Amino acid sequence: MSKKHLENADMELAMSRVDGRVKVTGAAKYTAEVQLPELTYAVLVESTIGKGKITALDTKKAEWAPGVIAVISHLNTPGVPEYKLANQDVIQKQLRVFDSPNVYYNGQPIAVVVADTFERARYAATLVKVTYAKEKAQSSMEQNLSEAIVPKKAKADPKGFTSDFVRGKAGAYKDAEFQVEAEYVLPSEAHHPMELHSIIATWEGPDKLTLVDKTQGSQQTAASIAKSFQLPVENVKVLATYVGGAFGSALRVWPHEIIAILAAKKVQKPVKLVLHRNQMSYMVGYRPHTLQKVAIGATKEGKLLGISHESFGKTSMYEEFTENVLIMTRMMYDVPNVDTKYRIVPLNVSTPAPMRGPGEATGSFALECALDELSYKLKMDPIALRLANYADQDPDKKMPWSSNYLKECYKLGAEKIGWNKRKTEPDTNQEGEWKIGYGVATGTFGAFRGGASAKATFKPDGTLLLQSAIADIGPGTATSMTAIAAQNLGIAADKISFQLGNSTFPKAPMQGGSNTVATVGSAIVAVCDNLKVELAKRAAAQKAEWKNAIPANTKIVGTQLVNADDKSSRIEISSLFSDGLSELVVKGDAAPGPESKKYSFYSFATHFIEAHVHELTGVVRIKNAVSVIDCGTVVSPKTARSQSMGGIVGGIGMALTEDVVLDDRTGRTVTASFGDYHVPVHADIPQMDMMFVNEKDPYLNPMGSKGLGEIVIIGVAPAVANAVFNATGKRVRHLPITPDKLI
Ligand code: MOS
Repeated sequence: MSKKHLENADMELAMSRVDGRVKVTGAAKYTAEVQLPELTYAVLVESTIGKGKITALDTKKAEWAPGVIAVISHLNTPGVPEYKLANQDVIQKQLRVFDSPNVYYNGQPIAVVVADTFERARYAATLVKVTYAKEKAQSSMEQNLSEAIVPKKAKADPKGFTSDFVRGKAGAYKDAEFQVEAEYVLPSEAHHPMELHSIIATWEGPDKLTLVDKTQGSQQTAASIAKSFQLPVENVKVLATYVGGAFGSALRVWPHEIIAILAAKKVQKPVKLVLHRNQMSYMVGYRPHTLQKVAIGATKEGKLLGISHESFGKTSMYEEFTENVLIMTRMMYDVPNVDTKYRIVPLNVSTPAPMRGPGEATGSFALECALDELSYKLKMDPIALRLANYADQDPDKKMPWSSNYLKECYKLGAEKIGWNKRKTEPDTNQEGEWKIGYGVATGTFGAFRGGASAKATFKPDGTLLLQSAIADIGPGTATSMTAIAAQNLGIAADKISFQLGNSTFPKAPMQGGSNTVATVGSAIVAVCDNLKVELAKRAAAQKAEWKNAIPANTKIVGTQLVNADDKSSRIEISSLFSDGLSELVVKGDAAPGPESKKYSFYSFATHFIEAHVHELTGVVRIKNAVSVIDCGTVVSPKTARSQSMGGIVGGIGMALTEDVVLDDRTGRTVTASFGDYHVPVHADIPQMDMMFVNEKDPYLNPMGSKGLGEIVIIGVAPAVANAVFNATGKRVRHLPITPDKLI
């Protein structure tokens, strides 16, 4: 059998990022860089207490400061029309901006200053004097576990992953010969994309709004804003042409966006609001701090008999944030008895948000570390343990997998990292002062597909313009979509351009949940197919031999349309426009079909880590990282590799450095800058091998692709923790694994 899987070298040869040049030369303009005539600048004033009421707000000095146009707060806000609607229940779930003097968390925006320059607004914001009636804020989850609640979502969706769940018998692990019981803690983590969250809001008259905005969904932001301001959705236009990373932080509308729109209404000019780096750790969500209790029971042969898994996560006082921490425990392994419990603890903190691999990245840390712990108890290889419990079908949904190449992932990864060099006994492999260990962990994430549309504009010169509302937060959407179209039509990639990030373009989902290629790629296939039908029809109108051509078998080769079934049937593309038409405009729609109900769709990955731990200082150096990914067909190998590198770096950050620390006396974020919040730098990142199984998923979409964005972070942190244990014999169950925990 010929080699199908992709390795580093294969991917480097693939097509480069189509927008790479504009990005590295600065020609690509991100929201904060966009200039408009008469632009004004907004800077937020934040609460400095974690709980209480504003009793007085003195804005006089700020209003008199040079260049200041307005200071807006709950005292003089133009108001958000949705807040006045009768059904308050529906809208209580967001922080209601400037709607009352109440303070729910430290850092809550309580006023905004608008000035003619950014610097003047920033200075004037320091002049706003606030007096509070202060109460004791609660921001520690550990101290408030007794306040844990079952989320409303669990009650509304009893089959969902946040509801109490039992398969077989609860607590069955207790009957097993071998048991592991442990608690795992993940701190809050901030998304910290390179690009700061930013927005420019412009009102045209009383009911038309244009936003240049950092968002993962141009149309979803337009819909959300239209609802808040009670406008027809077509009156709200959202542009997100370039987005410099988001990882989940731009999946929803946040208070600063509502504030910019209110400010623009008040000053009747365009308003630009750019968060500063500190605010990025509490204004736009974060991966919530979680405490997980896992217990696993197994036979001496390593057959899992029962898993009990409980998770507690943080949320805010005004909104219930939940994530699927327990999904993997339910569906990953063939276990007869599983019980799970999910609770959230409302605190004086801002609302968390999905962050890359939301839920699974957290849950896999507990599950995959606990399995590793079990493997040592059983004296069994951790890969063998996982293979012994491989699920032939989804044990949760009791449906066949659409595709599952996990076994290939284990095999390829073990070979690549040299798993046979791993010592079975921990703390027995040392070179000089460095202890050496190998760790493995598995990840999975649902492979999703939604509905989408695309528009194609084809010109006589053979150039093709494709449009979709999809945002691109960095993975290279324009590149992968260009690759799909190029392959479908035969057109050279440099004759195709792809425009995105505009809410007026054809329907697209948010860029989240690793669904873009599956969803929008299917619409690209549909629009290309429709274009071929149109071209074949036009060819048939001119030449008899084209009458029986099957459009799917046609291709564009150079300047000609070619019927592959009949090599003699070639026609100049320009001649297909002989009726004087200057361009052909075609639309395409795509949505999942009935197969979506018959299979369980997941992407899979195995992550392998070689870690070296210094015996005296406890410093952990990742020496090698190998990830093998089953994400179906890889449509754009180079950007896929690049996206995977980002995920693995994120996983190494989770494992070793990232930690949002709050001062629980005040609820204030201590680690609000990059000086305190540590993300991996180049020196922390080793040689990485990304391998793709590259086997087509037969059911999810015409390309055979599954999702990639999340799966590349899910399981990386436990693989690191497991490698550190193998090196040192020290089991760190509280991330990040900083040196103090190892000495
Ligand atoms: Mo991702 S957390 O779906 O942006």
